[in-house]
Amino acid sequence: MSSRHLAKEQPDSFAFSRQGEKKVKYWIAKYPKGKQRSAVIPMLWIAQKDHDGWIPEAAMRVIGDRLDMAYIRVMEVATFYTMFNLEPVGKHLIQVCGTTPCMLRGSGDLIKVCQSRIGSAGSVSADGNFSWMEVECLGACVNAPMVQISNSDGDLYYEDLGETSMNALLDELASGKAAMPGPRVTRDHSAPQGDVLTLVDKALYDGSRGKPLKSIPNAPAKPKAKTSKKPAAAKKAAPKRAAAKKAVAKPASDKPRLMKKARKGGPDDLKRISGVGPKIEGILHELGVFHYDQIAGWTKGQVDWADERLKFKGRIVREKWVAQAKKLAKEGGK
Ligand code: FES
Repeated sequence: MSSRHLAKEQPDSFAFSRQGEKKVKYWIAKYPKGKQRSAVIPMLWIAQKDHDGWIPEAAMRVIGDRLDMAYIRVMEVATFYTMFNLEPVGKHLIQVCGTTPCMLRGSGDLIKVCQSRIGSAGSVSADGNFSWMEVECLGACVNAPMVQISNSDGDLYYEDLGETSMNALLDELASGKAAMPGPRVTRDHSAPQGDVLTLVDKALYDGSRGKPLKSIPNAPAKPKAKTSKKPAAAKKAAPKRAAAKKAVAKPASDKPRLMKKARKGGPDDLKRISGVGPKIEGILHELGVFHYDQIAGWTKGQVDWADERLKFKGRIVREKWVAQAKKLAKEGGK
């Protein structure tokens, strides 16, 4: 659990850059109507990218206003996720993975390099070039130990590091060179170093082992076919009974009361029923359903009828359309 504080010195205001604003509009429009607050995480991320890698309080207020969200709610999200920096960071922010695989492979040495060259975690180096922090697994354990470095080039992974290569990497960045991401040893991505050590049998690739499987190993045994001892008469009656049972289990669907057109005053806004969108509303109109009271009166068979036409597989029941329509009809709303 990390302790997260806002920076002591804060700018008075914040505004998204032109590029940032474009992205903000994209994210706000991406979520369904009424769910715009879901854009809070992407907006915080864009604000961070727009503000030298950290989020000032003013940005949280701007986001809160844009999403009609209490400022404290935005702040709760920003302080919860450690990917959001709440204090200024260096030009190159180094995130050292300290989780078990990286720790066992020497992330402690990388942390020592950061401490000696930059200072304590969270501090910014005197030249403003670097800051660092320890983070949990970044999902590149196969190339442990590794760091992520965020700067104007992006958020890039540097892998298979050691004390010497970490120092060399910091030298490259300090000198303004573009540092090549990826493994810092002689290996291609996550392939083994040196010669290939596994799956070396050529027969794996020349087709000679491609005999079809007769059976799948460990597959459950097929159940033995049961020998029926029922008398012939009983056998004859069985299909009839099964058909009758089927008929009881699934009653035929009934056509509900449909209308050629909406009543005077126009149709109700069926989209107010949760689960009905503009497309479904259009289909309901085509079927002859325009008003809440029509849906409110649907019987089980009529629900099935509508369900079959909408190819819904039970959604009308699951979303409680009838109960919703009853309530809306009672309110007399449009
Ligand atoms: S443990 Fe370091 S990347 Fe997974």
